[in-house]
Amino acid sequence: MTTAVCPGSFDPFTLGHHYVVERAAACFDEVVITVVVNPNKRGMFSVDERIELIRADCADLPNVRVDRWTGLLVDYMRNEDIHTMVKGLRSAVDFDYEVPMAQMNRELADVETIFLLTDPRFAHVSSSLVKEVAKLGGDVTPFLSANTHRHLAARIAGERSI
Ligand code: PNS
Repeated sequence: MTTAVCPGSFDPFTLGHHYVVERAAACFDEVVITVVVNPNKRGMFSVDERIELIRADCADLPNVRVDRWTGLLVDYMRNEDIHTMVKGLRSAVDFDYEVPMAQMNRELADVETIFLLTDPRFAHVSSSLVKEVAKLGGDVTPFLSANTHRHLAARIAGERSI
């Protein structure tokens, strides 16, 4: 069975992420979306919330499951006996950022990184930009599922009321 990990922060999971995961799910028997926890960074959503949102967004993809990890990603890959990860590329900027990590992960644990191009519709979409635009009142509905958008709007409304 072929398995690939799609790692990321996913705070929150966007339609750009979904597009890449869907493409990966067509190439591998199984795809594991691994939410990588950064203990030094407090996200808008907790890791449990992110996982719940991703599960709902990927309910249409039966060979996709969601997991979490804190620490070096290659240690997770070793523990799970998975040798391939898939990353989405939006631009040459992503490529420049990803290449050293791919080389490092290969050297550390012989992990192969496969890059999939995102759809041009999502080339400008990132979780952080979506959060910034939404916080300032912009329309981010084209970039999130209806469920994730609802939760983001509620979270922002809650933050504002504090
Ligand atoms: O969605 P992001 O924040 O761009 O994802 C980046 C992520 C989490 C995949 C990357 O930072 C990562 O792999 N972090 C885990 C720690 C690690 O293994 N660092 C060394 C990378 S060579």
